[in-house]
Amino acid sequence: MDTKQLIASEIAKVVPNLEQHTVLSLLETPKNSDMGDLAFPAFSLAKIMRKAPQIIASDIAEQIDASFFEKVVAVGPYINFFLDKSSISADILGQVVAQGSNYANQEIGGGRNVAIDMSSPNIAKPFSIGHLRSTVIGDSLANLFEKIGYKAVKINHLGDWGKQFGMLIVAYKKWGDEEAVKAHPINELLKLYIRINAEAEEHPELDEEARDWFRKLEAGDEEAIALWQWFRDESLVEFNRLYDELGVTFDSFNGEAFYNDKMDEVVDILTEKGLLEESQGAQVVNLEKYDIEHPALIKKSDGATLYITRDLAAALYRKRQYDFAKSVYVVGNEQSAHFKQLKAVLKEMGYAWSDDITHVPFGLVTKEGKKLSTRKGNVILLEPTVAEAISRAAAQIEGKNPNLANKEEVAHAVGVGAIKFYDLKTDRLNGYDFDLEAMVSFEGETGPYVQYAHARIQSILRKADFTPSTDATYSLNDAESWEIIKLIQDFPRIIVRAANNFEPSIIAKFAISLAQSFNKYYAHTRILDENPERDSRLALCYATATVLKEALRLLGVEAPNEM
Ligand code: ARG
Repeated sequence: MDTKQLIASEIAKVVPNLEQHTVLSLLETPKNSDMGDLAFPAFSLAKIMRKAPQIIASDIAEQIDASFFEKVVAVGPYINFFLDKSSISADILGQVVAQGSNYANQEIGGGRNVAIDMSSPNIAKPFSIGHLRSTVIGDSLANLFEKIGYKAVKINHLGDWGKQFGMLIVAYKKWGDEEAVKAHPINELLKLYIRINAEAEEHPELDEEARDWFRKLEAGDEEAIALWQWFRDESLVEFNRLYDELGVTFDSFNGEAFYNDKMDEVVDILTEKGLLEESQGAQVVNLEKYDIEHPALIKKSDGATLYITRDLAAALYRKRQYDFAKSVYVVGNEQSAHFKQLKAVLKEMGYAWSDDITHVPFGLVTKEGKKLSTRKGNVILLEPTVAEAISRAAAQIEGKNPNLANKEEVAHAVGVGAIKFYDLKTDRLNGYDFDLEAMVSFEGETGPYVQYAHARIQSILRKADFTPSTDATYSLNDAESWEIIKLIQDFPRIIVRAANNFEPSIIAKFAISLAQSFNKYYAHTRILDENPERDSRLALCYATATVLKEALRLLGVEAPNEM
């Protein structure tokens, strides 16, 4: 049983009229473990019981059934609880040994779906670091929700529609070279796109041509569709190469184009409900009552639909298709206004499920402290960057363990894991500076540091030739192992907190603490020496490795057994 719960129910037993949840909210973790594992301050009871808090504390401490605890002592107005390390460690180690990587699985989701809109790069444009953040955060959220019993549906809402495709078609027809596009699709298409935008400044008729081509595309013109399809396919080949490197998969690649024939319904419903207003020839939904200054622009004066029109159609489609319990959009915080509008329009349309929609924003990445800008040449090209991370990881492994058999595989796991971990340990809303050297370092709060702790434990277990048995009882009561046991005991709660807050950094920070606590333990304890506690110590190693590996898996990071 959860120790906080246990203490709350024991206190509630001896103090009449005190609710368990009140006790739970008052329990504190003392800064110093000399003051016990948990403390209950008696101040708040002074008024109701009309006694001094010191007296209340000592009364309660005396009456508590101490059989679950090492001791319960009143210190001034506090009651300090010292948990019984032996029985709690036996319980926790027993659970991990019995359940392995299923430890901390929960049934909260009841098998319901969580739709996760993630990655969603734009066709014919470079995959940005923002798209990387969305990919990595979204993937981890999917793992977290699956861990607590939901089914994650990972959706890549590709930016594959809009007037820019009219621009691209015109540019390609004027200046395009098939072979060049085939060789470096995104690079070539981007060049064409930049060129036509520049030329359109002086030749506005190009804009008109582009609009025409986009209209043709929307109407299903054969030539327009063929070119669009080709640009899309070629771009996806490049994106998929990166997804393979990152080990990220999707359940759907339905992007904006998929909703081309599904927007009429949105406009019809809005019209039927009297929500559309005309504003300078355009159709808009006024959202002032939601404190949203700008109305949502649904249709332009020339009849063209917009990004939000497609997102409205997508939301309706997802609700029907997946009947989601939650629908999550992992998109940079520069799009916050868009998602506020999206939710508000759906609410206006009368969909109660609009409350289940959450925009999960994240902060900006900088390089050498400066904002990234394609124009100023401050860019991070992802494929070469990932390759560089892998080769730096390989160099470190070469130094540490030159005889390692599957070096390449491990270098890949460490290099890719390093980038992901660094991103995920950052509080989502904060940005960070993209510093490859810091990411791949084996020291500090990094992925390789946690992976290395895991691999070190695996090597101890191999040396001891130890496999835990579900029939044995493993228990420990020293202070260093206790730190580890408390963390492992907390893992299920940590996972729920991370999922509820859409915050993988909670898991990354947990993994760092667990790895650090283990390294401290390892420095103090001769695990392999003959000792009556040897098996329990090895079981602690096993449990730590199991939980570290699972925490890394939740972050989408691999845990090699040797490195
Ligand atoms: N393609 C967009 C961009 O790169 C992100 C799309 C996010 N998802 C969505 N449903 N709007 O900015």
